[in-house]
Amino acid sequence: MTTVIASVPMNVNVRPTVPAGAMPGPPADPSQTVEATRDTSLWWKSAVVYQIYPRSFADANGDGVGDLAGIIERLDHVRALGADTIWISPIYRSPMADAGYDISDYCDVDPVFGSLADADRLIGEAHARGLRVLLDFVPNHTSDQHPWFIESRSSRDNPKRDWYIWRDQPNDWRAALGAGSAWTWDEATGQYYLHLFLPQQPDLNWRNPEVVQAMHGVLRFWLDRGVDGFRIDVAHCTGKDPTFADHPRCLAGEPLADFNDDPYSHEVLRGIRKLVDSYPGDRVLVGEVNIRSTATVVQYYGAGDELHMSFNFPPLDAPWDPVVFRTCIREVDALLQPAQAWPTWVLSNHDNERHRTRYGGSMRRARAAAVMLLTLRGTPFIFQGEELGLEDVVVEPGQRVDPGGRDGPRGPIPWDFAPPHGWRAARTWLPFPPEAAALSVQTQWSQPSSMLHLYRTLIETRRASPALRLGSWEELPSPPEVLAYCRRHGDDERVVCINFAERPLPIDLEGDWRVAIDSLPEGLDRRFDGMLQPEQAVLLEPLHRPRPQPQQQRQPLQP
Ligand code: NOJ
Repeated sequence: MTTVIASVPMNVNVRPTVPAGAMPGPPADPSQTVEATRDTSLWWKSAVVYQIYPRSFADANGDGVGDLAGIIERLDHVRALGADTIWISPIYRSPMADAGYDISDYCDVDPVFGSLADADRLIGEAHARGLRVLLDFVPNHTSDQHPWFIESRSSRDNPKRDWYIWRDQPNDWRAALGAGSAWTWDEATGQYYLHLFLPQQPDLNWRNPEVVQAMHGVLRFWLDRGVDGFRIDVAHCTGKDPTFADHPRCLAGEPLADFNDDPYSHEVLRGIRKLVDSYPGDRVLVGEVNIRSTATVVQYYGAGDELHMSFNFPPLDAPWDPVVFRTCIREVDALLQPAQAWPTWVLSNHDNERHRTRYGGSMRRARAAAVMLLTLRGTPFIFQGEELGLEDVVVEPGQRVDPGGRDGPRGPIPWDFAPPHGWRAARTWLPFPPEAAALSVQTQWSQPSSMLHLYRTLIETRRASPALRLGSWEELPSPPEVLAYCRRHGDDERVVCINFAERPLPIDLEGDWRVAIDSLPEGLDRRFDGMLQPEQAVLLEPLHRPRPQPQQQRQPLQP
């Protein structure tokens, strides 16, 4: 296990030049000076990241599956929302056994999404709009159709045999996605190969230096094209226990990928970090450490020499429950702060039930959760469609696509009110989420009280407030069913109160506060009277703070 050395600041590199492709850094902001003297790589701390799941975002060629040209057409939606960074789930060549997480060529785009030229255009168009681009890097496994694996399985003495993990005997390790044993027998060469996911996703052997070199080549390929960083798929899985010992949790039916935590994964990450840091422009690594333990997750920041940020998924599973959220948030504060590890916050993604669905379909709760997501200390990640309050798609048994049963959150984004909701095909690859017309982007732009406007206002407010972007986090005394906290940076101060209860509750705050954002469409800009409505969240600012002059207020963008 790697030890976290608290005194080593994260990312102390100073990179004076910006490459042709990468985004220039954010303009100097005097309010950031205190942090800036300690850390020059602030853009990703202040970022709001928007996850694009390309199959379901937007479809330019009318085949019912989203594509890169479709993303380009809709980039202005992301910009109007106010997010500044997009993470795009895999776009590479793939047989699509796991919707693109089974890659047969890391250095090309799958024809279903477009071409390499489209990827270049997308990076350029995003940068032109001030959006940074993160791609999904999938280091743990390739597709079984990748030429490397085809070679590896061709004979025991093939030079690429050792690029994958072959054994004479299986152990009890289990694969994820309901795939049973993590070992598949190869009849032709008489050995088993390892796959922590589907049999079509053989695991690479990162202990082989040629694999390291080849995968570093993949990173360089995309860094040279100007991407601003990567989301790293199952970053905790590349290292495996070299003794291949059975694991009791696997015996009990749990997939190894849920808890694999071999020290070698840290070595892999250190190598990747070194490479990425050698590029100018503050490129960033966000790791998917899919282990439900914040104490373990924090180890993957290393001594400031592994991930810049890691996902921490306990809030992604959390029901609408103040105790669960309070525990998750306190834990992040207690464990990440001393390690100088910058937190991330995720409520939904393409692998898990959408949070509105998880909260019993309640739009009211989803609105309160939005206030929480965008006011916690750390970088928020928005999964496409949560800004619309979408729920999971209802998929009939005959329509199921994903072998892991994760179709629910992957429904197409409804852009327009009228069917086919801005998609050009008669039939999309998955059905639309419920209430597609009422929740469409077009409908919500025209309604000032919509979820979309709530997200937009929250992001805009966050951007304008150093306290919300970079400030400290301190919990405030509150009734047990209310979560209240203060964010502070210099003399900028905000308070957030979230009432999880289905009844009104009072909260006793020191000082006078004005409601800057209300999760309920109740009318802003009123003095806070200390009462929280059922399942209401409010963002408060000091009552006597000078208010922005009208000419300083920005007009909201619309795509
Ligand atoms: C995590 C990804 O988010 C998921 O969609 C995928 O199935 C697995 N990793 C395997 O790549």
